[in-house]
Amino acid sequence: MAAPRILSGIKPTGRPHLGNYFGMMRPGIEWQDRGDAFYFIADYHAFTTVHQPELLREYSRGVALDFLACGLDPARAVLFRQSDVPEVTELAWLLTCLTPMPMLENCHAYKDHQSKGKVPSHGLFAYPVLMAADILLYDSNIVPVGRDQKQHVEVTRDLAEKANRMFGEIFVVPTPSIVQTTATVIGLDGQKMSKSYGNTIDIFEEEKALRKKVMGIVTDSAAVEDSKDPATSSIVALYRLFAPESDVALMEDQFRAGGIGYGEFKKRLFVAIWETFAPFRQKRAELAADPAILDGILANGAERARAVALPVIERVRRATGLR
Ligand code: AMP
Ligand code: TRP
Repeated sequence: MAAPRILSGIKPTGRPHLGNYFGMMRPGIEWQDRGDAFYFIADYHAFTTVHQPELLREYSRGVALDFLACGLDPARAVLFRQSDVPEVTELAWLLTCLTPMPMLENCHAYKDHQSKGKVPSHGLFAYPVLMAADILLYDSNIVPVGRDQKQHVEVTRDLAEKANRMFGEIFVVPTPSIVQTTATVIGLDGQKMSKSYGNTIDIFEEEKALRKKVMGIVTDSAAVEDSKDPATSSIVALYRLFAPESDVALMEDQFRAGGIGYGEFKKRLFVAIWETFAPFRQKRAELAADPAILDGILANGAERARAVALPVIERVRRATGLR
C-alpha cells in the first residue's frame, strides 16, 4: 500500500500557542515519519481577519519558523504557503456550488461570530469550504487537527462523498486524526486556549512574559494551607502536557494535601514549559538569522505542493465539464 498522504494547515493570525503545538504541530511532526506529510500556512484563511499586508507576511513567516524550530523537517515533510497554490480557490468555488447553505450555517466559527452580534464576512461563512478544498486538492488521507476542527473535516467528507456520487470518484475521502489527550488545550482562564479569547501562551514566549502569564493563571481563592482540587485546576491541566506522569501525580497529591500555595505550583509549571521549548529556541534563532533559508524551504515546498495539486485540479475540471 502507498504511504498515506497527511495534510494539515495553521492560520497565520498571530504567533502559534500551546494549543496549536499540542493539537496540531506536534502530532504533525510525529506523522512526518509515517507517511507523505504536507503542512501549510493557511494565509487565505488568515485573510478572513488579518487585513494588514505587512502583518500577514510577518505572521506567515513566523508560523513557518516556529513549526520548523519545533521539528518539522523539510526533508521529510512539505511545508508550503497556501497562497502559493492559488488553484485551491478554484476548487473552493466548485465545492461552494455543491455546498448547501444550512451545512455552513451549522458550523461553529460562523455561529460563534453571529452569537457575538458581529456581521460575518462571506469569507468567514464559506471558510469550511476553503478548508475542504485544501484537503481535497492534495488527495489527503489523514488530517491531524485539534478537536475544534473535527466538524470542518466532517464537512469535507460530506462534500467529497457528494461530489464522488455526482461526478465519479474524483476525491479521496479524508479521516481526521485527533490526539485525545491534547485535543483541547485550555488557556490561562480555563477556557479553550485561543487567540480570540486572549488567553494564550505562545510557544516562543519571552522568559519574562511567560513567567508573568503563568503567574497570572486564574485560580480560586484557596489559602496556602487549604486542600485544593487538582481536577478543576488549569495549572495541573497545563502541567500534564509537559511533566512526566510521576511529577503530575506528585503535584495532584500536594494539591489535595494542602500546605503549598498556587504560586509554588505555578513556578513549577513555568520551569516545565520553559525547559521543554528551550532546545527549540536556539534552532529558531538560527533559522530567523538568515531569511534565505526560509525562502528556500517555502519555494521548494510550493513546487512540491503544486506537483500534487495540479493533476488533481485538472482531474476535477475534466470530470465536472469545466474542460
Ligand atoms: P488555528 O490557529 O485555528 O489555525 O489552529 C491550528 C491548529 O491548532 C488546528 O488543528 C486546531 O485544531 C489546533 N488548535 C488550536 N487551538 C487549540 C487548542 N486550544 N487545543 C488543541 N488544539 C488547538
Ligand atoms: N481551519 C483550520 C484552523 O483554523 C486551519 C486549516 C485550514 C486547516 N485549512 C486546513 C487544517 C486544512 C487542516 C486541513 O485551525
